[in-house]
Amino acid sequence: MHALWKTPALTLLIFITMLVTESSCPDKNQTMQNSSSPMPEVNTTVFVQMGTKALLCCPSSPLTKVVLVTWIITPRGQPPCIISYKAETRETHESNCSDRSITWASTPDLPPDLQISAVALQHEGRYSCDIALPDGNFRNIYDLQVLVPPEAIHFPGENRTAVCEAIAGKPAAQITWTPDGDCVTKTESHSNGTVTVRSTCNWEQSNVSVVFCVVSHLTTGNQSLSIELGRGGTSSPPSLLTIIYVKMALLGIILLIVGFSFFQKRNYTSNASGSTWSASSERESMSCRKMADKLDMGQISSFDKAKLKKTE
Ligand SMILES: *[C@@H]1O[C@H](CO)[C@@H](O)[C@H](O)[C@H]1NC(C)=O
Ligand SMILES: *[C@@H]1O[C@H](CO)[C@@H](O)[C@H](O)[C@H]1NC(C)=O
Ligand SMILES: *[C@@H]1O[C@H](CO)[C@@H](O)[C@H](O)[C@H]1NC(C)=O
Ligand SMILES: *[C@@H]1O[C@H](CO)[C@@H](O)[C@H](O)[C@H]1NC(C)=O
Ligand SMILES: *[C@@H]1O[C@H](CO)[C@@H](O)[C@H](O)[C@H]1NC(C)=O
Ligand SMILES: *[C@@H]1O[C@H](CO)[C@@H](O)[C@H](O)[C@H]1NC(C)=O
Ligand SMILES: *[C@@H]1O[C@H](CO)[C@@H](O)[C@H](O)[C@H]1NC(C)=O
Ligand SMILES: *[C@@H]1O[C@H](CO)[C@@H](O)[C@H](O)[C@H]1NC(C)=O
Repeated sequence: MHALWKTPALTLLIFITMLVTESSCPDKNQTMQNSSSPMPEVNTTVFVQMGTKALLCCPSSPLTKVVLVTWIITPRGQPPCIISYKAETRETHESNCSDRSITWASTPDLPPDLQISAVALQHEGRYSCDIALPDGNFRNIYDLQVLVPPEAIHFPGENRTAVCEAIAGKPAAQITWTPDGDCVTKTESHSNGTVTVRSTCNWEQSNVSVVFCVVSHLTTGNQSLSIELGRGGTSSPPSLLTIIYVKMALLGIILLIVGFSFFQKRNYTSNASGSTWSASSERESMSCRKMADKLDMGQISSFDKAKLKKTE
């Protein structure tokens, strides 16, 4: 140890290393819940979103004094993996570690913090960092919990109902509705620890035409989705056959209009007596066109249902 103080270059290097680790620990993307205890042991629950990087810090201590750093990694239901660093020889050692995404946060000769490059569900568990100093040992224990954003889907159901689902989130998402309806909410737990929540609501009052479901989760905040309710009775989406019938009817109407206007022109040029007939046919064709427009609108609005609106 005394040798270090004689070489200013090395001292500087170690000092810089300390600064770097101090500034990058803790990670901003982790929510720390401090259930602190008197030193030398600190237990912390850490929540990390699946797929993001996690950085776990050792107890901060002057690196010049560190003798040994030991990480004991115990993912739930798996044997522990041990990573250690001996300062005197600058040697790292691994035992039973197979997960390549768990590494030292910096280069192998600059411990002590630990990094998980992309957190997955199987990384949940206990992580402890032991730092041995000449004047005692210090330990940080982390209970790593993985957050999984749910996939939110929504659609109108039958009989003035609407359905909102938050699929495979961890922890379970919350679903709320505006305005309040008559709701049934079911949750289904999956073996990997994620939960699917499905809420089905019914609105009796016919003056409610659009409802909003809000899916709330730690990872995504509040997602607001709007659903258009059908008019009373059944409001199932139009089947393919219905669409074809409507299209055929429209085609027939257009053909009629074309035919009428063709006759009208011919009658206009040939004799004057036909003018009353052609005038009435024009009125008829006008009303046909209006009907066609109405049908078109109905078709568009039925396709326009279930628009997605996101608000953060
Ligand atoms: C933290 O999360 C934000 C988005 O929530 C992202 O833009 C940023 O890159 C993340 N930072 C790190 C260090 O992963
Ligand atoms: C934990 O709590 C202690 C005091 O109770 C405080 O000094 C420390 O900064 C806290 N750590 C975090 C990460 O919030
Ligand atoms: C820290 O957590 C471990 C289990 O992970 C427990 O045995 C220990 O008592 C805890 N220590 C404190 C001080 O809460
Ligand atoms: C390594 O894992 C095996 C089981 O996979 C276990 O039997 C053995 O005790 C472990 N070794 C250490 C050092 O933890
Ligand atoms: C819709 O309501 C009618 C009568 O109120 C009922 O017969 C029908 O089963 C309902 N359909 C659904 C899917 O609940
Ligand atoms: C968890 O399990 C559910 C159901 O088997 C699946 O839909 C989901 O994708 C899984 N999630 C992860 C992160 O593996
Ligand atoms: C619908 O009608 C009920 C009374 O029947 C009324 O209390 C409610 O405010 C109305 N809602 C809307 C959105 O107009
Ligand atoms: C989400 O909505 C709830 C109330 O429904 C509110 O308390 C909370 O602050 C909202 N969260 C965000 C991130 O907007």
